[in-house]
Amino acid sequence: MNFKNRMKSLACLSLVAGGLWAQNVCVSTPNTSLLLSAPAGGELRILYYGEKLAEADLKTYEGDRGMDAAYPVYGLTCITETALAVTHADGNLTTEMVVDQVATSDDDTSTKTVVRLKDKVYPFYVNVCYRAYHDVDIIEAWTEITNGEKKPVVLTQFASAYLPIRRGEVWLSHLHGSWANEGQLVQEPLTPGMKVIQNKDGARNSHTDHAEVMFSLDGQPRENAGRVIGAALCYGGNYKLRVETHDGDYHQFFAGINEDNSAYRLEKDETFVTPALALTYSDEGLSGASRNFHRWGREYKLANGDKLRKILLNSWEGVYFDINQEGMDQMMADIAAMGGELFVMDDGWFGGKYQRNKDNSSLGDWVVDKRKLPEGIEGLLADAKKHGIKFGIWIEPEMTNTVSELYEKHPDWILKAPQRDPVLGRGGTQLVLDLANPEVQDFVFGVVDDLMTRYPEIDYIKWDANMPISNHGSQYLPADKQSHMYIEYHRGFAKVCDRIRAKYPDLTIQACASGGGRANWGILPWFDEFWVSDNTDALQRIYMQWGTSYFFPAIAMASHISAAPNHQTFRTIPLKYRIDVAMSGRLGMEIQPKNMTGEEKKLCKKAIAEYKTIRPVVQQGDIYRLLSPYDKLGLASLMYVAPAKDKAVFYWWKTEHFVNQHLPRVPMAGLNPDKLYRVHELNRIDNEPLAFEGKVFSGAYLMANGLEIPYNHKVDYHKQNDYSSRVLYLEAVE
Ligand code: DGJ
Repeated sequence: MNFKNRMKSLACLSLVAGGLWAQNVCVSTPNTSLLLSAPAGGELRILYYGEKLAEADLKTYEGDRGMDAAYPVYGLTCITETALAVTHADGNLTTEMVVDQVATSDDDTSTKTVVRLKDKVYPFYVNVCYRAYHDVDIIEAWTEITNGEKKPVVLTQFASAYLPIRRGEVWLSHLHGSWANEGQLVQEPLTPGMKVIQNKDGARNSHTDHAEVMFSLDGQPRENAGRVIGAALCYGGNYKLRVETHDGDYHQFFAGINEDNSAYRLEKDETFVTPALALTYSDEGLSGASRNFHRWGREYKLANGDKLRKILLNSWEGVYFDINQEGMDQMMADIAAMGGELFVMDDGWFGGKYQRNKDNSSLGDWVVDKRKLPEGIEGLLADAKKHGIKFGIWIEPEMTNTVSELYEKHPDWILKAPQRDPVLGRGGTQLVLDLANPEVQDFVFGVVDDLMTRYPEIDYIKWDANMPISNHGSQYLPADKQSHMYIEYHRGFAKVCDRIRAKYPDLTIQACASGGGRANWGILPWFDEFWVSDNTDALQRIYMQWGTSYFFPAIAMASHISAAPNHQTFRTIPLKYRIDVAMSGRLGMEIQPKNMTGEEKKLCKKAIAEYKTIRPVVQQGDIYRLLSPYDKLGLASLMYVAPAKDKAVFYWWKTEHFVNQHLPRVPMAGLNPDKLYRVHELNRIDNEPLAFEGKVFSGAYLMANGLEIPYNHKVDYHKQNDYSSRVLYLEAVE
């Protein structure tokens, strides 16, 4: 690294502090500042993170008392949590880092600040790095740890970043859940002690807890007011987020790879790069922090974040493993007739010696099962062409089954401990391939590459991953590097994905992992979207999608209309409500259209046409969450507003139903108070239009009062039910 880069006037100021010539380094985005004290030969400290500091404040800033090391290390102050712990080559467990050099460099979109720390005694270095974006309030923080000692050192803790958060009435918002109940929002005050949020699945990392959090600094979290710090660890593997509240004035927040059973032996001259922690700050509440994450995500992280997504039908809940040529053709015809743009054939299409008729065989044998599809993928592509839509396909390339030709040929390619029988996963036969092994990496890359080489018209891949790493053991790594297995798995995964994206940048790829196991900013740079959950029940989806939207934009959240009764909850929800929920994400269908009535198909056709109108607002607009389903007020409501504030879509879903219940009226947000908006209801099923249909209201009025929305639908008696929802489209008028 070249440390002779120029210093920028405001980025670095020289001050005298504590007898040392101190250098204050300011990392800034359009509306935020992160201020560091980096005195040469002294300790790197964090002085401030929050609202942008004016030049005058920067010059006079002396730092808060108690603000501490920017990257706390273990050994000489052992009584609180640390970011880094090292066993040096000579067995010394202590580390003492001081500032060596500071450098900043610019590219078109961001400024990178690197503070090089050096151990006072050992040739051991840590670069503490910050990337500040020029047009969005995100700072990515990570470290580069280099061993210049004569022999290997062992890293037993290696966080990406540390942030002190001033105590007061700080609340933590984070996501918890499980399979089919992902993204549940948990909000709690931070209290003394340790809060640990972590994952140990190995392969996937967002089914239960999520690697993203928000801190509301002004008491109980509010959606559209109050100061919020958000943090998202960009890593697809095991992570650990820690918040220690000790006896100091700051909550101490650490985030990084989960070091449990992952001690890392760093060879001489090797550099270990930790994944980035994306930090944001907003004084516009939780929704404000979400908007920052979404904007940054769409612009810089998510694959093809600037392209609108197609409306698709996925075959899973429609036919499960019952794949055949005729059935696929019929589904394609149906989705095309409803105005959809893409059909995705899910699990069950492959297998040579072993047929994939259920979940217990054939993963790894990625050949078309000609018994089911005599005309092969060519036949399906021809069908798609005939219907004027695109075609996509399901794979699960990181996995195999004991019942497969792949496993018969390469039993040494699976993750497994020596001397032990492997623990088996899904179907009682599933195993995870050893992505640390370059041959396995080639194989996994080849699964996608072969498909795309033979069938370049394939438009979309659903990449599934249905098993955690249940066997600690790489048959490829040497005995003294077995503790690297989780990390090497994800390095291998990254290599494969980099190769795929270098060759197929435009291919749409969905990250699916038994539902929402891969909703993470470490994964999404290679993926266009993720499957939010295997649970497609519209009511439960409101809760899951609400939580997930804290960190991920609608464009990435696959949200499908499915059958009633729902296949997971067995709840019967009317189609209108199912549509209105699915339309708040990346709309798709997960249903057998053959079983739908003509009237239902008509409603879906209308909804698909209307979604095409609002798609840019939903997929590229700014989210304003208005009324949380978790508040249990009988309603949930949110809206998306186009960046120019000339268009908006407002969603209103009733979440419970009682006679004479009094639901709150929901003020809107994010509009231009001076603009006038015409209101038009989408997906209307009522016999008469709403009282305000076609009428014009000022943004100021809508944000102060909202609209009086009738609690129920005015439909014929036999069509009445206990669900009610509305989607309103607002367009500015001159
Ligand atoms: C789990 C996924 O989440 C489902 O959508 C489906 O693709 C199945 N796997 C197929 O086995």
